[in-house]
Amino acid sequence: MKPYHAMSKEELAEEVRSLEKAYEKTQSSGLSLDLTRGKPGQDQIELSAALDGILNNNFTLQDGTDARNYGGISGIPEARKLGAEVLDALPEEVIVGGNSSLTMMYQYVEAAHFFGLFETGESWSAEAARSGGRVKFLCPVPGYDRHFTICEALGMEMIPVPMDSEGPNIEFVREAVKADSLIKGIWCVPRHSNPSGVCYSDRTVTALSRLAADAGANFRILWDNAYSVHDLYEGCPEIAPLLKLATQAGHADSVVMFASTSKITFAGGGISWMASSVGNIERYLKRHSTMAIGPDKVNQLRHVRFLPDLDAMKAHMRAHAERLRPKFEAIQQRLEDDLGPLELAEWTRPTGGYFISFDTLPGLATQVVELTAQAGVKLTAAGSTWPHRKDPEDRNIRLAPSFPAPNEVKEAIAVFTLCVRLASARQLLGANTP
Ligand SMILES: Cc1ncc(COP(=O)(O)O)c(C=O)c1O
Repeated sequence: MKPYHAMSKEELAEEVRSLEKAYEKTQSSGLSLDLTRGKPGQDQIELSAALDGILNNNFTLQDGTDARNYGGISGIPEARKLGAEVLDALPEEVIVGGNSSLTMMYQYVEAAHFFGLFETGESWSAEAARSGGRVKFLCPVPGYDRHFTICEALGMEMIPVPMDSEGPNIEFVREAVKADSLIKGIWCVPRHSNPSGVCYSDRTVTALSRLAADAGANFRILWDNAYSVHDLYEGCPEIAPLLKLATQAGHADSVVMFASTSKITFAGGGISWMASSVGNIERYLKRHSTMAIGPDKVNQLRHVRFLPDLDAMKAHMRAHAERLRPKFEAIQQRLEDDLGPLELAEWTRPTGGYFISFDTLPGLATQVVELTAQAGVKLTAAGSTWPHRKDPEDRNIRLAPSFPAPNEVKEAIAVFTLCVRLASARQLLGANTP
């Protein structure tokens, strides 16, 4: 196979004709496949089946409390300890929530915006109103759409930050916060980032731990460690302990970390964690207790009986990896075989997490997603990995192989590569009429 850019007009025209034929054949085969959201597969969910019934009528915590009654707004001590291991924090810096870390993120950001969760009192929105501007957030791109939705829902301005192989471009980040004190936060997915799979380097984490020194008042790093233990292979890099480093640097308040068991046990029935300085946690809980008397301690107890410590969790995650790895590898193989020699796309080769980030030639992502949909394969909408769903170059597509069965992943990715080739060949031929 020759790279498309090295083909003559005639060769390209021939390529388009043959791809169109193959596409029509695929369309008529009536596929219905879905590579959209990063949900765990059914075989992964089954790995935690033992959660059901594990308490066996024993609801008593190590300190003698009955988990079935009201109270314990910070979460049960056993689960705080487990969260501390996951997030590299101290148990007193950790609280345990319900089944969604995203809910905790939203509640934290909303409360900081409207009520202020800071020693200095003033909320982000009040400061912005006083200074006649808008609250802004740094959004590494490509990134997680639901982070952007939180900012959008609260009327914040989002500033895209380029990602490089070590995490968000730290020079860009530092200059941005220095220049604008209304930049109040940055979203980070430090390990196996969604969707690029990047693991932040020590240099990046260390720089982030000191970022508050350059930023305006009450700046927060929203550290969403959703894929903290989600390795596909042995020997993935560990992430430097942000909260510890920030504490040493005198900036503990600038760090708010999150994680959950959504992709460890049950995505719809897990537990979540938030970790920050003790002061931040106290201020958050004060606000949170206006809406809750206590979390679901029974589910927290089920989880710590099932996964008592980080070692148990890591062993459990190896079983997840066995199920996920063949799907990721099938995708890589297909991309390599079908697109590698053609030099018309770039994609990531993650060592963990749930996604592959794929870049088409500029201007083609929307068209590729449409072509694939018309051939029976749903993909995450083009643009989703950017604030306001607007990818300025229309290139990025997020592939999520976890949910479909392995044979479906193979079928879906074959359709995808066909559509990438078709859209690219048409574009290069100047015949790009979808
Ligand atoms: C980066 C990231 N954060 C958070 C979540 C959702 O987490 P939770 O289920 O704990 O709300 C996801 C789910 O895909 C994610 O990719």
